[in-house]
Parts: sequence; structure tokens; C-alpha cells
Amino acid sequence: MSEIIIRSVIAKDIQHVAEIEAICFPETEAAPRKSFEDRIAAFPEYFLVAETEGRLIGFINGCVTNSSVVYDELFYSTEHHVPDGENLAIFGLDVIPAYRGQGIAARLMNQFIQLARNTGRKSVILTCKDRLVHYYESFGYVNNGVSESTHGGAQWFDMTLAL
Ligand SMILES: CC(C)(COP(=O)(O)OP(=O)(O)OC[C@H]1O[C@@H](n2cnc3c(N)ncnc32)[C@H](O)[C@@H]1OP(=O)(O)O)[C@@H](O)C(=O)NCCC(=O)NCCS
Repeated sequence: MSEIIIRSVIAKDIQHVAEIEAICFPETEAAPRKSFEDRIAAFPEYFLVAETEGRLIGFINGCVTNSSVVYDELFYSTEHHVPDGENLAIFGLDVIPAYRGQGIAARLMNQFIQLARNTGRKSVILTCKDRLVHYYESFGYVNNGVSESTHGGAQWFDMTLAL
């Protein structure tokens, strides 16, 4: 198998990132290209991509907040980013179908958690669907129950990893 590299995002990744998001999430939940442009311009340090043979195959991205839970406005505006905030919030974790089940999302997640540690955050927070609660628990996240988020009209669970 070819080597898979995890690296920081760069501006020229935007198109591929937006394409991966559209493959991985339904239209109502997928972040639009404009959101990625804004996030990468505002806080590129909280955006990692997975690449193999010069092709992007996945990514993880987020921002910093003092909120203990991910709330919907975080997704829509970079103005909610608090650079010296306590918690690293994850917006999304995506791996294209052909590369799933090989631990690539886990590598992205573990590197993101390390980033949170290195920058002195108290916790990493995310929301996920019922079917992935178990997956995130395997990293040590605790399920805090149904989220107030109605992002994309779906039901989400609040997950917290204390550092
Ligand atoms: C979730 C996702 C990022 C996992 O990527 P991946 O590289 O295959 O993940 P890993 O190889 O690290 O781990 C695979 C594990 O993910 C879990 N998983 C992934 N998709 C799942 C699904 N649809 N239902 C249940 N479990 C799932 C499984 O527990 C699997 O565990 P296993 O090793 O026992 O098979 C990928 O399936 C994806 O992009 N899905 C669509 C977008 C999404 O839902 N993202 C997460 C919400 S933010």
C-alpha cells in the first residue's frame, strides 16, 4: 500500500477538500466550499489532510472555543473562533469510501488530539450521529447525550474528550 501522509492544509487543497466533503456528507450537512475558504484563511492550523500519491483522501478540521459543546453557529462563521479558548471543536472528519477501514480517520483524529494537547486545550469536543458514538468512544470520548444541534436536520450526540 502507498504511504499515507498527514499534513497541514494549504490553500490549494480547498477544491479537493470541498469535493471530499460532498462525497462524505449529504447535501444538507456538507460544508460548502466557501466555509472551507473562510476556515483555511482564518485558522489553517486546525485543519489536517490525509494524502497519498499526491491525492487528498481525507481531512479533519475544527476551531477553538470556550463552549463545552459544539453549537451550530460554529459551523457557519469563523468569528466564533477564540484563539486562546479552552476547547478544540471538531467540525468534521472525512475519509473517501475507497480508503475507509484502514485507520486513516484514526490517524487524523489522533494527530488532532495531539494538536489540542500541544496547544494546552482542556478538551476536544465534537458532535456525531448515533452510529459513530461507539467509534469516538474508542478514542476516549464520553457521550454527553443528545445535542441541541439541529445541523442538517439530523440528531447529533455531544462527545467530549477530556485532556
Ligand atoms: C467516519 C469515517 C471518517 C471513518 O473513516 P475510516 O478511515 O474508515 O475510519 P477508521 O479506519 O479509523 O475506522 C473505521 C471504524 O469507523 C467506524 N465507522 C465508520 N463508518 C461507520 C458507519 N457508517 N457506521 C458505523 N461505524 C462506522 C467503525 O467503527 C470502524 O471500526 P472498525 O475498525 O471496527 O471497522 C468515514 O467513514 C467517513 O468519512 N464517513 C462519512 C463522514 C462521517 O460520517 N464523518 C464522521 C462524522 S463528523
